Amino acid sequence: MKIAVLKERLTGEDRVAATPETVKKLTALGHSVTIESGAGEAAGFPDSAYEAEGASIGGPNGSDIIFKVREPGADEIGELPEGTTLIALMNPFALSTALPAINARKLTTLAMEFTPRITRAQSMDALSSQSNLAGYRSVIEGAQIYGRALPMMMTAAGTVAPAKVFVMGAGVAGLQAIATARRLGGVVSATDVRPAAKEQVASLGAKFIAVEDEEFKAAETSGGYAKEMSDEYKAKQAELTASHIAKQDIVITTALIPGRPAPVLITEEMAKSMKPGSVIVDMAVAQGGNCPLSKPDEVVNADGVKIAGFTNLPGRLPADASSLFAKNLLAFLPLITAEDGSLNLDTDDEIVTAMLLTRGGETVNERLT
Ligand code: NAI
Repeated sequence: MKIAVLKERLTGEDRVAATPETVKKLTALGHSVTIESGAGEAAGFPDSAYEAEGASIGGPNGSDIIFKVREPGADEIGELPEGTTLIALMNPFALSTALPAINARKLTTLAMEFTPRITRAQSMDALSSQSNLAGYRSVIEGAQIYGRALPMMMTAAGTVAPAKVFVMGAGVAGLQAIATARRLGGVVSATDVRPAAKEQVASLGAKFIAVEDEEFKAAETSGGYAKEMSDEYKAKQAELTASHIAKQDIVITTALIPGRPAPVLITEEMAKSMKPGSVIVDMAVAQGGNCPLSKPDEVVNADGVKIAGFTNLPGRLPADASSLFAKNLLAFLPLITAEDGSLNLDTDDEIVTAMLLTRGGETVNERLT
């Protein structure tokens, strides 16, 4: 197969969909790989490093498959070879306006976000690989904005108290945020609506705080994600967390519901109840935010409380994020490769069908219709 790897065009997107390490493996499998010049530069992978592993530098013409990190913009869609297959983080729930152009170009598109959460697909799960790094980075960013130290320090000049860190949403990102904040010496607590999160939070040495009613016991979908909670539950949750938030130094919010706007967990009033100098990092800002005060890629100052909204935290660790994403793609490739090495979309495979968005001019994914 001819695989092309494109340079990301979105401002601030420093990740790349292949690394010299994965190029080496792809060429060993008999595929030919073409990298757009400069595609890996921002992640620390110069063209020469790819060439050393057998890639050529060039464009996507003639390719069977294109690897990208992000969905293509309107200008890019028109430039992709007609009928090619594109695998990327397609941002599928925000793709409706681009679908006509994608289908007009007869592109076959596969969304890495729709990798099902089954054991066989774990090595391909890009949401997990990227969320894990994002969770780590959220604490690093929060610590950097916070004007105090995280660990307790006993010095001759006096004692520095440890920071209190509260993580809202204990999925992949949240659990890594808890672990990172603990490593930095913070006193960590966390909340979630899925009962499975309780034990995971405790195993990381953090305190679990949640409204554990009947709705909580049924909040996890068979796909492992959270359901949208009722207004009644949200009111009880806000009542429980409001007084806790007021005492925190850093709050990291990660709560998401697939295909829905992010739930509001911290109202303006709750945010302003925090001490001046405290920090909220809203990881859900790109999906509307867990705090209405957060703004995409800004640090908002609300009565001295700093609310940071990063839309692309994994992109702030481009080398690691690219390495893991490229490995997710490498793990997925055999599912769409025939024995002779040619492209073969096996639509009997539940992983392929879950990820397939469009094919030959048609939208085929039921989650988009
Ligand atoms: P996510 O990114 O969709 O959401 C983040 C977190 O926010 C979730 O834990 C969710 O329960 C929580 N949340 C949603 N609404 C909330 C609310 N109102 N208040 C508080 N928290 C709220 O979830 P993510 O990180 O993708 O993971 C969800 C689960 O899937 C985790 O348990 C994870 O371990 C599991 N998983 C399973 C995999 C597998 O292959 N079996 C692979 C990856 C993750």
